Amino acid sequence: MILGIETSCDETAAAVLADGAKVLASVVASQDKIHAPYGGVVPELASRRHLEVIVPVIQKALGDAGVSLADLKAIAVTQGPGLVGSLLVGCSVAKSLAYVGRLPLVGVNHLEGHIFAAFLQEPSPAYPFLALVVSGGHTALYLAREPLRYEVIGQTRDDAAGEAFDKVAKLLGLGYPGGPVIELTARSGDPKAIAFPMAQITDGAPDFSFSGIKTAVSLHVKRNRPLSAGQVADIAASFQATAVKMLVRKTVRAALALGVHRIVLTGGVAANKALRGALQAEVAERGWELFIPPPALCTDNAAMIAAAGHARLLAGERASLTMNAVPDMKLA
Ligand code: KG4
Ligand code: ZN
Repeated sequence: MILGIETSCDETAAAVLADGAKVLASVVASQDKIHAPYGGVVPELASRRHLEVIVPVIQKALGDAGVSLADLKAIAVTQGPGLVGSLLVGCSVAKSLAYVGRLPLVGVNHLEGHIFAAFLQEPSPAYPFLALVVSGGHTALYLAREPLRYEVIGQTRDDAAGEAFDKVAKLLGLGYPGGPVIELTARSGDPKAIAFPMAQITDGAPDFSFSGIKTAVSLHVKRNRPLSAGQVADIAASFQATAVKMLVRKTVRAALALGVHRIVLTGGVAANKALRGALQAEVAERGWELFIPPPALCTDNAAMIAAAGHARLLAGERASLTMNAVPDMKLA
């Protein structure tokens, strides 16, 4: 029985996991309302809010799971990457609880956590697999040939995919966070209305780039102001379709080049139905395997951190009480 703690960005989360994959409780306190007026996460406000709610969030997770601190066997906490002030809150609480409860502690890479969300459902992926991690801070393809080892196959050269959704939503005056609201708005729009450019990486690397499409949306908005609701929906739908096409195309190409036909799609943007459906269609056509966590486990949560922590603990990893947040922690 492991307690997972996640505070890397703007979600305060705690979860109780049994046997590495059974989610007994998963509590996520969102800070969306706090950051919405600013159109993005304000680090200072995020860490303060984590501080206010982390203890009640952990208490709720333990209560929902029907367990007490004495029932826990270990604590897993996100060590990085993320906002340093936010990470520090989770790490400090985790260290305190580990000290008080004399429990083993393990620091988890947030991106590995996203990948381990795929292990919280049956069937879970076998190795090797190619993981597309698409979130607000990261967009990368990782090859996992064996457990707990990752190779970066490609990554974004500028904005993360989620960041692009958030920025386009801001340009369209749709609010924050952008992903869900773009998805909703896109439903009533025409995905073929505007031909936004697909980024071309000329050196052939399986990398991503989202700054071009963001600029194209910005120019389109400026040229066509004031926008009607129909135009906003068309822009949202066309942007989403192009972003999805870029993500799917690079992933399929990388999988073909590597000869790896098992794909994991995860991270906040993987909650997007258009992306899930498009990758599903490509994978089905080729007879490959695809693993996508349910939307609530794609966006930031602590169950995925507990799952990755469980695997690391079984591999013998332990963090000392002097462990610290690593804001630029690398996965590979
Ligand atoms: O993984 P996550 O919760 O936090 C990070 O680790 O960054 O990802 C958050 C990102 C945000 O940029 C948000 O706009 C995006 O995921 N997102 C979505 C959707 N839901 C969340 N993007 C597109 N469609 C969605 N339904
Ligand atoms: Zn995340």
